Amino acid sequence: MVISPASAPADTAGSFNPASCIAQRALEIDASGIRKVFDLAAKLKDPINLSIGQPDFDVPDPIKERAIEAIRAGKNRYTPTQGIAELIDPIRRDVCQSTDWRDPGVLVLSGTSAGIMLAMFATLNPGDEVIFLDPYFVMYKHLPRMVGAVPVPVNSYPDFRLHPERIEAAITPRTKMLILCSPNNPTGIALTPAELQAAADIAKKHHLLVLSDEIYDAFCYQKHHSIAPLLPEQCIMLKGYSKTYAMTGWRLGYAAGPKPIIEQMTKLQQYTFVCAPSPSQYAALELLHQGSVDMSAHIDHYRRKRDRIVAGLADRFVINHPDGAFYAFPKVPGNLTATEFVNRAVADNVLVIPGSVFSNYDTHFRLSYAASDQTIERGIAALNKLADKMTG
Ligand SMILES: Cc1ncc(COP(=O)(O)O)c(C=O)c1O
Repeated sequence: MVISPASAPADTAGSFNPASCIAQRALEIDASGIRKVFDLAAKLKDPINLSIGQPDFDVPDPIKERAIEAIRAGKNRYTPTQGIAELIDPIRRDVCQSTDWRDPGVLVLSGTSAGIMLAMFATLNPGDEVIFLDPYFVMYKHLPRMVGAVPVPVNSYPDFRLHPERIEAAITPRTKMLILCSPNNPTGIALTPAELQAAADIAKKHHLLVLSDEIYDAFCYQKHHSIAPLLPEQCIMLKGYSKTYAMTGWRLGYAAGPKPIIEQMTKLQQYTFVCAPSPSQYAALELLHQGSVDMSAHIDHYRRKRDRIVAGLADRFVINHPDGAFYAFPKVPGNLTATEFVNRAVADNVLVIPGSVFSNYDTHFRLSYAASDQTIERGIAALNKLADKMTG
């Protein structure tokens, strides 16, 4: 949606009008869909909240202890832009082992979000086109525009799988980047080795840079596969700590990829984020001690939540089987748009997010099962009741 900038730089009395300062790139981002859900959430008493994009468990104690120790020990200053060596070196070893890459660049980030932004700022010129699957994570649509690039969502309905022929059809001489997100937000789909191979073949054929957002890799209820080993020369792999360790507020992630690109991202980090938060980096060192932090019980629990959500809604909703993350993306039953459906759900005290927030289509809704088992049971009952009202 394009919103016109405020007309007058000053009001009639000649005083300064802050609204007139807002740049077009900010005005063009329409966050009203998701904001509306959060505004409504604030008004509801004890809502059945299935809209949250972060785990419902807390940061494991050993990580917290390590952060507290670091803060007490004075690790509160800027770190090197690229991250502390104690963290970068093991990350690099890990990346080499998992990808077979020989000598990747590594940059520690203020969250995966920073990596998406820096990768785009470092590689995209105005007019360059960026392909990703629709439905998509919201940043993929808005961040390219900030550098004058063009987001090109490729329809993945109704199965949300990667259809190579649709990607091929969207490629033009201006296509520069292909973003993959596996497991996916908002659909929960994880790409198979065959899909990744098809994407890698396309990337090689058309000389595309692949941005592989793997923030949900730990929440994969089958073996997680990455495209990175297939593309040693042309992939930026993004990993995050936010979701795996429930550290969303600690702002930590990393990028690994070809050195010339990571070097440019590092330079841009120096003049934007400066560095990732120092206590978070030191706290992450705890993860290098094998066995100190084991998330497997949480992940198993989330697998059971996924199973419960799918089984609980399958009779009344068309719902894909999510392979990972903590989202499902069911179709709205009946003839309502997702926005209309979500308004009705909110009236029944259930918070979910309309598909239009993540998509050019408004036919599905995202629900997050990063919630207590009790909330999930209440949510299933309320959504089924709503579906019955709408269809019967
Ligand atoms: C697909 C995806 N990528 C990246 C992020 C950003 O994560 P963070 O910046 O906390 O690492 C999110 C957060 O919701 C996400 O869903």
